[in-house]
Amino acid sequence: MGVCFSNTRHDSFGVRRLRHKLKFRYQTLDGRLYQAIDNSVYWLPIDDIEAERSTNSHLFHKRIWNGNFHAPIAEILKTGGRNVRVLDIGCGPGAWILDMAESFPNVKFIGIDVSPTFPTENIPPNVRFVEYNILDGLPIADASMDFIFQRFIIHGINEQAYKQIIIPELIRVMKPGGWIEFTEGDNYRSEAGRVTNRLATGIVKFLRYRGINENIGGEFPQICEGTGQFCQISHDAQTIRLGRQGGEIGQIALRIIHEGMKGGRIPIAEYLNMMPEHYDALTETMLSEAERTETTWTIHKCWAQKRLD
Ligand SMILES: C[S@@+](CC[C@H](N)C(=O)[O-])C[C@H]1O[C@@H](n2cnc3c(N)ncnc32)[C@H](O)[C@@H]1O
Repeated sequence: MGVCFSNTRHDSFGVRRLRHKLKFRYQTLDGRLYQAIDNSVYWLPIDDIEAERSTNSHLFHKRIWNGNFHAPIAEILKTGGRNVRVLDIGCGPGAWILDMAESFPNVKFIGIDVSPTFPTENIPPNVRFVEYNILDGLPIADASMDFIFQRFIIHGINEQAYKQIIIPELIRVMKPGGWIEFTEGDNYRSEAGRVTNRLATGIVKFLRYRGINENIGGEFPQICEGTGQFCQISHDAQTIRLGRQGGEIGQIALRIIHEGMKGGRIPIAEYLNMMPEHYDALTETMLSEAERTETTWTIHKCWAQKRLD
């Protein structure tokens, strides 16, 4: 069960006043910085290179989805005033939050991440970043959020913990009638790329060993349905053809995936019992195979409203 925080001692953003600052725990592997947190299965780095990948990924998503969100919340964000609050869990360097905060200056935006790669200075007055491990529950008041956004955090969360801790916490902190939006991608697939498929199979094994369900993106409608707490559940998906055959978007997507795979070099190669140099060679071959074969990446979006009753 999730850790529930009582509604006492929250600031105007709905964030619980934390007595102790989280001790940021990390390790360095092969010159890259990674989380070292007991209950976390997150395997991507948390350094400046990854922050840049994440910021590029934000611009990519904004383009392919034609905006920053799909939930029908624009009117509330425009006219709702100072009591409207938006939460981004696993906000990374905060690119989505900062972009949204500029578009909706009267709304309060809260970004939570266990790795403090978000800015600590010159933060707009309507933004609050919180360093916190969401597997310990959300340090947020009950029924305080109008909109919750989650994008590409599932590689940090074991599926069981996600369903047993995170989902109940998300429901707890949403206002009745509030909206939630999940965006997660499947693993890439290739029609004919032998090395690409070998790597993809290895990565899926690596993820499952950590309890991560790489296909959860497409399952959010059923997950929301199963809680009995949501209505107006909607789903959309984009399948991107990777590489030059997918045009500029295909090339950007391939770069984002490749950078992510480079970030997982040491943990993935170690799990697959492979020399890191061999892993590097396979990821380079994957790049060239994408130009010769049909390699695709499907990204899912699901949005839903919390029931009023
Ligand atoms: C791939 S990044 C995505 C960042 C951002 N949501 C975006 O779309 O650009 C995943 C983020 O989830 C964060 N994360 C992973 N496990 C977490 C946890 N247990 N608590 C809070 N944040 C977590 C990571 O630190 C990382 O910043």
